[in-house]
Amino acid sequence: MIKISPSILSSDFSNLETEVRLLEKSGADMIHIDVMDGIFVNNITMGPVILKSIRNKTVLPFDVHLMIIDPIKFIESFVNAGSDIISIHYEANSDIRETLKCIKFYNKKAGLVINPNTPAEVTLDFLDIIDLIVIMTVEPGFSGQKFMYNILPKIKLIKEYINKSGKDIELEIDGGVDDLTVKEVIKYDIDIVVAGSYIFNSNNYKNKIQLLKSLSCT
Ligand code: DX5
Ligand code: ZN
Repeated sequence: MIKISPSILSSDFSNLETEVRLLEKSGADMIHIDVMDGIFVNNITMGPVILKSIRNKTVLPFDVHLMIIDPIKFIESFVNAGSDIISIHYEANSDIRETLKCIKFYNKKAGLVINPNTPAEVTLDFLDIIDLIVIMTVEPGFSGQKFMYNILPKIKLIKEYINKSGKDIELEIDGGVDDLTVKEVIKYDIDIVVAGSYIFNSNNYKNKIQLLKSLSCT
């Protein structure tokens, strides 16, 4: 069964505790946390202080997506704030392998995220160390963008790399997922989908989460 990782970027930040508790009750499998620094992407969102403030409001794992430059500088802070999965961008100005090693040093799951224009092949060098590959199906920076269908062949290719490697690496899709586009991505036997505006623009999170799950079973 596919796992749903709602992105709280689209949630009501004045009621974050309520939002997170509601996601847990609604069947979310983890909480996707979009961290942006205004340099790697043209937007600023939240940091470790916010994570820490909601850490004891839910038992769900924190799936942290770092859209920041030099992520290695902040891994320890995000670990201490309660992250379970930490994903860094291939395009970040950083020593990717060292950063992934640092995440593993803290016994957290390490993810590698690739932007829409980044080729699938770059993931091959890191299959030995990662637990997760996150494929962006929108340009990072904002929620509510349209799913990029032209990324589908890349999803297929990366799934093939993972299968060939024989490693236990999960595949996550981030951006523009809704009840139509989820049907496209589940064809590739992916493990996790992020959904932001699709869930939070509704007044029934449970319905939306369950619908995404049921569509991925058919
Ligand atoms: C984009 C973020 C996504 C985004 C998802 O930079 O990484 O996680 O918030 O939002 P939707 O589902 O609305 O595209
Ligand atoms: Zn994200």
